Amino acid sequence: MNFWQQLKKPVIGLSPMDGVTDAPFRYIAAKYGEPDVVLTEFINVNGIYHAPEQLFYDFLYHEIERPVVAQIYGNDPAFFYIAAKVVGELGFDGVDINMGCPSKSVAASGSGAALIATPDLALDIVRAVKQGVADWVKDGLKDVRPELIAQTEATKNRLIELGVSLPAERRHIPVSVKTRIGYKDVVAVDWVNTLLKEEPANITMHGRTLKQMYTGSADWEQLYRAADAVAEWNSAHSSEQRITFLGNGDVQSLADADKRMSGNMDGVLIGRASFGHPWIFKGLDFDDVPLQERIAVAIEHAHLHARLKPEQMFVQLRKHLGWYMKGFHGAAQVRAELVRSENAEQVERILAQVETTEIMLDN
Ligand SMILES: Cc1cc2nc3c(=O)[nH]c(=O)nc-3n(C[C@H](O)[C@H](O)[C@H](O)COP(=O)(O)O)c2cc1C
Repeated sequence: MNFWQQLKKPVIGLSPMDGVTDAPFRYIAAKYGEPDVVLTEFINVNGIYHAPEQLFYDFLYHEIERPVVAQIYGNDPAFFYIAAKVVGELGFDGVDINMGCPSKSVAASGSGAALIATPDLALDIVRAVKQGVADWVKDGLKDVRPELIAQTEATKNRLIELGVSLPAERRHIPVSVKTRIGYKDVVAVDWVNTLLKEEPANITMHGRTLKQMYTGSADWEQLYRAADAVAEWNSAHSSEQRITFLGNGDVQSLADADKRMSGNMDGVLIGRASFGHPWIFKGLDFDDVPLQERIAVAIEHAHLHARLKPEQMFVQLRKHLGWYMKGFHGAAQVRAELVRSENAEQVERILAQVETTEIMLDN
């Protein structure tokens, strides 16, 4: 089943962000914003193969996030092939291949956005992931090493504890790609035409090159042209093969997303504008959300984080807390306290004070 084709248009999804779109934040985004699709942080395929317990926290999710897509990255088709089987077994609705990460540690090894410069390898990887899904549908985790099967089973049990209903049957989950408009130079249309050869179910394109990293502004003109190329491909193929295309980069609000839609674009993914603002997907501006509600959600987020991940991972939450607590008298002081918090109880104590002070100010 290709859920990408079923989503109502325009699609407004949560962009994958390493260190940000973990299970606790995606749950909060799903509950308060209801994006049409969410993607996990990128997960390294070599890491998956070696199956350390730590990495598998990245595979946790809740039922309300669906459709939820696991994003994977690497440079070796053989590892992608195995990772695809694990993603299928864990009940995700799709698997996405990262061809967009510009960071040195990732791109220097030929992974992420560096794949734009090695199109043959990029296509091999798409094929390997599709083959991994197909073989998993046929034979399950046959031929997967026992340690990885054990880790996958342990993660499945954890998901069941979280209330996830794992699909009763193995499904042909769609394989998608998230990428950029180029490596050094802009090659959006050529690059999309290359990717179309392997028919990914969805292509999301960020309107910057690898070289640009996050500087300048996203080039939406290039994204419209890429969307047109996908539309042209679609017009020559059957409706069952229809490939969707999402634009990405600098979308600040739902109104902004609407303005950026063009005839051939199916939707957008929103990244940074969702920091501390899961309500963005419902069309609210940050200032529309009362401080009391932001405090309540920050506390809920903290407890959820503490429930899902071990104590030493609590530091990952601190930036989220800072993002919620902006734009009111004394916010800087509150953030300074939150960045030192070590557990949910401390967060609750710090935020309880804010609430009282603010109410006093109101009076
Ligand atoms: C902190 C951070 C982490 C990111 N991690 C990923 C990632 O794991 N996978 C990915 O495809 N893109 C990643 N991105 C890129 C975003 O998904 C998105 O393409 C980019 O931020 C542009 O969209 P925006 O302007 O709406 O944020 C990351 C971006 C940021 C800021």
